[in-house]
Amino acid sequence: MAKRIDVSGLSAYYSSFRAIEDISMAIEPRSVTAFIGPSGCGKSTFLRTLNRMHEVTPGGRVEGKVMLDDENLYGAGIDPVSVRREVGMVFQRPNPFPTMSVFDNVAAGLRLNGSYKKSELGDIVEKSLKGANLWNEVKDRLNKPGSGLSGGQQQRLCIARAIAVEPKVLLMDEPCSALDPISTLAIEDLIGELKERFTIVIVTHNMQQAARVSDRTAFFNLSAVGQPGKLIEIDDTERIFSNPSVQATEDYISGRFG
Ligand SMILES: Nc1ncnc2c1ncn2[C@@H]1O[C@H](COP(=O)(O)OP(=O)(O)OP(=O)(O)O)[C@@H](O)[C@H]1O
Ligand SMILES: [Mg+2]
Repeated sequence: MAKRIDVSGLSAYYSSFRAIEDISMAIEPRSVTAFIGPSGCGKSTFLRTLNRMHEVTPGGRVEGKVMLDDENLYGAGIDPVSVRREVGMVFQRPNPFPTMSVFDNVAAGLRLNGSYKKSELGDIVEKSLKGANLWNEVKDRLNKPGSGLSGGQQQRLCIARAIAVEPKVLLMDEPCSALDPISTLAIEDLIGELKERFTIVIVTHNMQQAARVSDRTAFFNLSAVGQPGKLIEIDDTERIFSNPSVQATEDYISGRFG
C-alpha cells in the first residue's frame, strides 16, 4: 500500500543538541499512529518535524527526509506554510483564538489561505463542526466567543478548525491531557471517525488511550538524559501491547520503567 508519510534518517536539533536521532518510519493513509515513550524522548519534537514546525523554534534544525505522498517536505523550494496546510496540528492545551467567535475560529484557516468561495464558507464551517462532533452543542452560539466553551468543546473546536482546510494529516500532541474523562472519550470517538478521512498521528502518555485509538504504535526511548531520543520499534498496536519485539517496550507499557 502506498504510504502517506515516509520518514527516513531524520534527526532534529535544538542548536547543537541532537534531540532525536536517525528516525525512519512509514505511515499509511487513513490510519491512526500513536507515539508513546518517556518524557523527553522527543515525541513532540518528532511530531513537529512532520509539518515543519520544528524549525520555528530558534536553533531548530532537521536532517533527513520526510515524504508526504511523493513530495519531500524538506526539499528545495517547498513552502513551509503550504506544508502546514496539508499537515494540521492540534495541541495539548486547546488554543482557540480568544477574541474570535466560534464561527470565525473554524473559518480562520480558510480565510488565511483564501482557498474557498465566500458563499461556501457557512457550509464548510457547519461541516467541520459536525465533523468534530461539536455542531449540536454550538449551532445556537456560533457568534459567541470560542473561549466561552468548555475545555472539551474548545478542543473539538480546534479540531474543527484544523479539519476545515482539509489537511491530509492531522497531528495531535497529547490532545486529551487537559481534559476530563468524558471529554477524553469524546475526542477518542472522534479520532475513530476522523481516520476515515485523515491520517492521524497522536502523542499520548495514556497507554489505554494508545491501545484504544491507534492502529500502529511507535515506542520512543532515550538511553540517558542528554542523549538523543530514538525510535525503538513501531508495529501494530495489538502486537506492541501483547508481544512487543523489544524488552524496553514491554517494560515501558507494563509500567516497569526507569
Ligand atoms: N525549545 C527547545 N529548546 C531546547 N531543547 C528543547 C526544546 N524543546 C524540547 N527540547 C529538548 O528536546 C528533547 C525532547 O523534547 P520533547 O519535548 O520532544 O520530548 P517529549 O517526548 O515530547 O516529552 P514529553 O513527554 O515530556 O512531552 C528534550 O531533551 C527537551 O529538553
Ligand atoms: Mg511532548
